[in-house]
Amino acid sequence: MSMRPQAKEHDKSYYVYTYGCQMNVRDSEVIRGLLEGCGYHAASSPEEASLIVFNTCSVRHSAENKVYGKLGEITALRRKDPDKLIAFGGCMAQLPEVRQKLKKHNVDIIFGTLNIHELPGLIRRAEEGQHPVVQVWDKAGSIIEPLPSKRSGGYSAFVNIMFGCNNFCSYCIVPYTRGRERSREARDIIKEIRELAQAGYKEVTLLGQNVNSYGRGLDEPIDFPDLLNMVSEVDGIERIRFTTSHPKDLSDKLIDTMADNPKVCEHIHVAMQSGSNRILKLMNRGYTREHYLERTMALRQRIPGVAISTDIIVGFPGESEQDFLDTLDMVQKVRFDSAFTFMYSPRTGTKAAEMEDQLPVEVKRSRLHQLTQLQYAIALEINRGLEGKYEEVLVEGPSKTDPSKLTSRSRTNRIIIFSGPDDIAGQIIRVKITEARTFSLFGEIA
Ligand code: SAH
Ligand code: SF4
Ligand code: F3S
Repeated sequence: MSMRPQAKEHDKSYYVYTYGCQMNVRDSEVIRGLLEGCGYHAASSPEEASLIVFNTCSVRHSAENKVYGKLGEITALRRKDPDKLIAFGGCMAQLPEVRQKLKKHNVDIIFGTLNIHELPGLIRRAEEGQHPVVQVWDKAGSIIEPLPSKRSGGYSAFVNIMFGCNNFCSYCIVPYTRGRERSREARDIIKEIRELAQAGYKEVTLLGQNVNSYGRGLDEPIDFPDLLNMVSEVDGIERIRFTTSHPKDLSDKLIDTMADNPKVCEHIHVAMQSGSNRILKLMNRGYTREHYLERTMALRQRIPGVAISTDIIVGFPGESEQDFLDTLDMVQKVRFDSAFTFMYSPRTGTKAAEMEDQLPVEVKRSRLHQLTQLQYAIALEINRGLEGKYEEVLVEGPSKTDPSKLTSRSRTNRIIIFSGPDDIAGQIIRVKITEARTFSLFGEIA
């Protein structure tokens, strides 16, 4: 154990790196809230910060690589400034083999996804000179309510409705990094959303790895559509989104609620993963391509203009050319509004990593290329069909790519860019679509 000098109260500042999904974006808001509660303020750069926090993702090898790359830069920075503390948390920190590797990076604090609330105490120990401070839980405790948080701002907020996952898809590390599925009490969720509305938020996105199983294990009999209806009663919240929906649990009740509740946006993210029944089975997904097609057709029939987005993996172990063609066929049949497409990446500890017939990277790369080309063409066709039409958008603020314009989101989760006065940020207005691109649309105030 080595000692390091204590940082002076006035120069305690933090910088947070966030990788991965919306869960991590939300966790980083909690991390910031906790840090501010123990006397830290936001630094404008990692160079200035006395504490650097990594909130990491281990869903694919490439995600882990990005983290190691940045960690290398930051440890080099610390050589010039040895008083800097480095804290490492998130999904990677849950994995024993990662913690092993971290020894050589000499990080000061390691914390997991299941004990973020302990961060202030861990930091105090590190400030007092303990090194390293390692505290990672391997099982989830009870949900801690409420935790402080410093939100990223804007008019749209993420709200956790459940944590963890029980599905154990054979390729996926998430059940190992986030623990078993547990739902938050509806009253705690509603309380948080009321506070968000009072703070001026107009839109909430409800987060869970499989929101369709919300309510399982709670004493109160409640399901996800019930929760959507409760959230819609909060005054000031005008739009409700959620992510993600597992196809096996996508009920008629949810489809009806989306169709009938005007605050629930016409967008759903339903990960398909593969269009081949053989591969879906090996993935342990619990549905067939026929079921997936039937559910998405039901969505389209019941909810006019609904946008359906998805996740697809290519190159799962043993995926044949025919299996891959089945995926392309499904992409053509469903006509996704957008899709996140990935090359399969073996994750230590998952079933699929042990399967025979792992495919060469060239095969994966070529399939990914074919799939994305097809999907981009479909997305562009769909977007072109919107030219001349009107969309209701929530104005977010200046566009990152062109700050002279405003960026906004349609109810169907499309990015729409247009010219207008800065002071309409946060308003819900109508725009007319003038030009379509693959990933965004251009419009004018109607
Ligand atoms: N719970 C969400 C998915 C969360 S992970 C759901 O089931 O809808 C986000 C996406 O990463 C997954 O949908 C999957 O497409 C992809 N993914 C997960 N593990 C992967 C792996 N080992 N290799 C490649 N992609 C993976
Ligand atoms: Fe991973 Fe499957 Fe759970 Fe999604 S549902 S987080 S893909 S195990
Ligand atoms: Fe999310 Fe990555 Fe963890 S996708 S749940 S941050 S492994």
